[in-house]
Amino acid sequence: MLRLLGFVLGAAILTIAQDTKKEEIVLPTSAEDLATGKKLYDGSCQLCHGPQGDGGKGANLAVPKLARAATDSDLARIIEVGIPGTEMPGAYHMVKKEITQVAAYVKTFAKFTPEKVPGDPAKGRAVYLGKGGCQACHTTTGADGLLVGGLTGPDLSTIGGRRSAAHLRESIVDPSASIPDYFVDTTAVLANGQRINGRRLTEDTFYLVIHDYQGRNHVIDRMSAREIIKDRKKTPMPSYKGKLSADELDNLIAFLVSLRETK
Ligand code: HEC
Ligand code: HEC
Repeated sequence: MLRLLGFVLGAAILTIAQDTKKEEIVLPTSAEDLATGKKLYDGSCQLCHGPQGDGGKGANLAVPKLARAATDSDLARIIEVGIPGTEMPGAYHMVKKEITQVAAYVKTFAKFTPEKVPGDPAKGRAVYLGKGGCQACHTTTGADGLLVGGLTGPDLSTIGGRRSAAHLRESIVDPSASIPDYFVDTTAVLANGQRINGRRLTEDTFYLVIHDYQGRNHVIDRMSAREIIKDRKKTPMPSYKGKLSADELDNLIAFLVSLRETK
């Protein structure tokens, strides 16, 4: 029964995928459409992407070419369904016409000059690996294309495409100011009273996996744990305020901005 359902669902998804492939979306260009697009953008998107689209918690949209949306159809599709596995939500509350209006408005950001980033990425990389000690907690893409680094903090291998320079700066000098939704400090109190504290790696109805701040993974059986405490405000990342010079910070940010998807 389940297998049959899976098959039917699979076939349906395949059909949808083929449909969206065929469908070329044409974006509106009239002043009214753009004004409506702006209203929708200000209501649903600017909180993450910034009033001028130059990013924040969300990606910088004020670029000549969007990394994930090379065509108008891709852009509309991303806005409609979001980007699975990231904080980019789907605009399921909008009808197709509204989605094309927002997309058309998003495209107007391309003419804004994106924030200039001073600093030298190569020198910043040296700070990242050396004085900053960032690799102890974060992964980036190594020379062999595989991720290298620790798992305590989020992966940074494409952070430059996802966050603005201003947000990156804030993350380094004031890490608790905005903690990504996907990072959750979690403590499990076991039946014997032992407390395990670290980053939640994954969880389901029965199990929870915590990566503790010493680097070990713990599989917790939820039924037998006495208590599970989540603190979305707590981070083990130290503030680098006053620990890096202004130049070192600029270089480090230039390095982070350079970390993008290489496809
Ligand atoms: C909760 C925060 C959030 C909201 C709200 C949000 N986004 Fe995003 N968006 C993101 C993040 C984060 C990314 C980057 C995802 C990634 O690639 O990892 C992103 C990526 C994108 C991209 C792809 C950028 C690229 O470089 O290709 C587009 C386009 C986009 N968002 C448009 C929108 C629009 C339009 C809206 C409003 C309808 C919106 N977003 C609402 C967080 C958000
Ligand atoms: C002790 C571990 C630790 C060290 C060392 C550390 N970080 Fe972090 N970092 C984290 C954790 C945990 C988070 C997620 C919670 C938060 O935002 O503070 C984080 C978040 C971040 C973010 C925000 C990611 C996002 O998606 O917005 C950036 C950027 C970042 N770190 C860069 C750095 C850089 C650069 C260094 C070195 C100068 C560094 N970190 C050192 C643990 C660490």
